[in-house]
Amino acid sequence: PQAAAPAAGGAPAGDKLVFGHVASMTGNEATFGDSTDKGIKLAVDEANKAGGVKGKQLTVKTLDDQGKPEEAAVAATRLVTQDGATVLLGEVASSRSLAMAPIADSNKVPMITPTSTNPRVTKDGDKTRPYVFRVCFIDPFQGTVMAKFARENLKINNVAVLRDVGNDYSVGLANFFAAKFKDLGGTIVADESYKAGDQDFKAQLTAIKNKKIQAIYVPGYYTDVALIARQARELGIKVPLMGGDGWDSVKLYEIAKGALDGSYFSNHYSSEDPSPVIQGFVKKYKETYGSVPDALAVLGYDAANVAIDAMKRAKDLTGPSIRDAIEQTKGYQAVSGVINLDQDHNAVKSAVVLAIKNNEAHFAATVNP
Ligand code: PHE
Repeated sequence: PQAAAPAAGGAPAGDKLVFGHVASMTGNEATFGDSTDKGIKLAVDEANKAGGVKGKQLTVKTLDDQGKPEEAAVAATRLVTQDGATVLLGEVASSRSLAMAPIADSNKVPMITPTSTNPRVTKDGDKTRPYVFRVCFIDPFQGTVMAKFARENLKINNVAVLRDVGNDYSVGLANFFAAKFKDLGGTIVADESYKAGDQDFKAQLTAIKNKKIQAIYVPGYYTDVALIARQARELGIKVPLMGGDGWDSVKLYEIAKGALDGSYFSNHYSSEDPSPVIQGFVKKYKETYGSVPDALAVLGYDAANVAIDAMKRAKDLTGPSIRDAIEQTKGYQAVSGVINLDQDHNAVKSAVVLAIKNNEAHFAATVNP
C-alpha cells in the first residue's frame, strides 16, 4: 500500500523533498517545458551532491500540462495533494501560472514561476498572492524595453501590433509596448489579433501590409511567430518583426527558416554574455545536455536554486516557513542576474535585446530597469 501523502503545506514526512514541476512537455510550447525541466534538474542534482537541504535529498516530479491552463491547474493540485510537493515550480506561460496560483495560495505551498512575466501572476489587483513568486522581470518593463529600442535604436515611427488574444502574456505585453511606444512619440498604425494554433495569418498580414509600417510587434510564442514571419515574407512584407521572450526556442529558427532575419526580441539573457557566471553555466549545461541553454533553462535553474536557498534558510520545511524565506530573498547571485524580490514578489533585473541574423540570435543591447 502507498504511504499517506503529507498534508498540503505541512512539513514533508519522508526523507525526500519534492519539487513539483508543472510544464508544457508536449504541444506547441514543448521546448518551454523541456528546457525548464533540464535547468531545474541540473540545480537539484548539484544540491543533492552538496548534501541536499537540511539533510534531505530533493526529487523533481514533473507533470505535463500539454500547454493548457486547465491541465496546469489539475497538475498543480495533484502535485500538492497526492505527491506531497514542498514547492511548486512553473509554469513558463503566464496563462498557466495564473491557473496554478490560487492552488498554491489555498494549499499554502510556495510556487516560483521561472519565467511568467504577466504582472497578475504575483499580484492580482491590489492583492499580492502570498505564496506566489517569480525570478524574472515583468511585462511593463519588457514592453518598455522594446518600445525604447524601436524608437531610439531603430528610429521607427510606425508599428503594427499582432497579438494572441487568448494568451494573457501576449495581450498584456502588446498593451505595455503600445502604451510606451506612443509615449515616446510613435504611432500604432494597426492592431490585429490571432489565436494560438492558427495556421493562416494572411488576412491579418494583408491588412497590416496596406498600412505604412516600419515594423510589426508580435508578442507571441515561437510556433505561431515563426509561421507569421514566413507568411509575412510570402506576402512581400520586408520590415523587421519585433517580439518578447516568448520567441525563445530552438524551434523558432527551425520553423522560420530565415524569415526572421533582421528581427529583434527582448529576452532574459544572452548566451553570448561574457560574464563568468553565464559562461560557466553555459559550459556546464552543454556538458550535461549537449546544447546551449535558452532563457527557460537558465531561469528554471535559477528558480530551483532560489527555492533551495530559501529552504536552507527557512526555520523549518513547512510551506509558511519556506514562503517567508523566499520572500526575504535579497542579493541572491543567480545565473540570470542578482535576484532581489520586491514587495510584489517580482525580481528586478535587466533585459537583453537579441537580433536575429543568419537565422540565429545575437546579443544587441542590455537594458537596465
Ligand atoms: N514570459 C512568457 C509568459 O509569461 C513566457 C516565456 C518566458 C516564454 C521566457 C519564453 C521565454 O507567458
